[in-house]
Amino acid sequence: MYALLLQNVLEPAGPQAGRVSHLYWFIFWITTVMYVLVIGAMLWSFIRHRREATAAEEKRVTTLVGGMVGIVTVLLLIILAASSVTGHNIATPPQGPVDILVRGNQWWWYVEYQGGKASDHVVTANEIHIPVGRPARIHLDTSDVIHSFWVPNLAGKLDAIPNHRNVFWLQADKPGVYPGECAEFCGFQHAHMRFFVFADPPDKFAAWLGQQNAPSRVPQTDEQERGRQTFLNGPCVVCHQIRGTDAHGNVAPDLTHIGSRTTIASGTLPLTRGNLAGWIIDPQRIKPGTHMPGMNLSSDEVQLIAAYLESLK
Ligand code: CUA
Repeated sequence: MYALLLQNVLEPAGPQAGRVSHLYWFIFWITTVMYVLVIGAMLWSFIRHRREATAAEEKRVTTLVGGMVGIVTVLLLIILAASSVTGHNIATPPQGPVDILVRGNQWWWYVEYQGGKASDHVVTANEIHIPVGRPARIHLDTSDVIHSFWVPNLAGKLDAIPNHRNVFWLQADKPGVYPGECAEFCGFQHAHMRFFVFADPPDKFAAWLGQQNAPSRVPQTDEQERGRQTFLNGPCVVCHQIRGTDAHGNVAPDLTHIGSRTTIASGTLPLTRGNLAGWIIDPQRIKPGTHMPGMNLSSDEVQLIAAYLESLK
């Protein structure tokens, strides 16, 4: 498991965020110098010029102020130029990216790898794996309201707009788990719309992709098998998909390999059997307003389902 990095715009871990943070510091220092000069000049004039100015002094001050206005204008134009160069560099699409469709939903993220080959096609949720050192091109849209996709250490934020596909890219230059979140208020559980970007070394990423592409694991124990039956005979299949079974719902997160993820409910809780069971028993208690209803299952049934889901590595 990689170190979980703090969510910080000023600790860039890839070229996109690096450019944004360079621009930030560039503007920060220019404006700091401007601020110090302006305040300094003001204090100086308070202290030194308590008497009425002579005509010659007035002329000198007018020239000085005119010069300062000129300098400030030039500095602002430099900031404008630096901003547009950064914007251009960020927007320029890279070569050979991994294409990933990310779709915002109230309140979770659908993630689909759109590799050219069928063997690269993967559907998952809330946890996005990318290979280190290679750009990932994110195709962003939404199934309901406006959301905003933001991984501060890797790139600036971008809105997910209804009926519109936004495309941008990000890249991680060192392995790690980069936290992200929805950055646009999108309803009741906006604050529980977190996600994680796992930057894997290329061989590990390839292994992950292959494993996610495979159908779901076959139950290994009697408990898991009974959990599978309970799941398939219950209401779960209306919304969820588990590839390799008869569960083909497509309005909620794909559970084919849920056991390989680290969190549930869009980063709300760590993935453990206990949390899975607690979530299934009463999702509204953990995430009020979530579209997953309580299921009226017995506690035995919930335990079986949790055991089965946990086994779906
Ligand atoms: Cu989605 Cu806020």
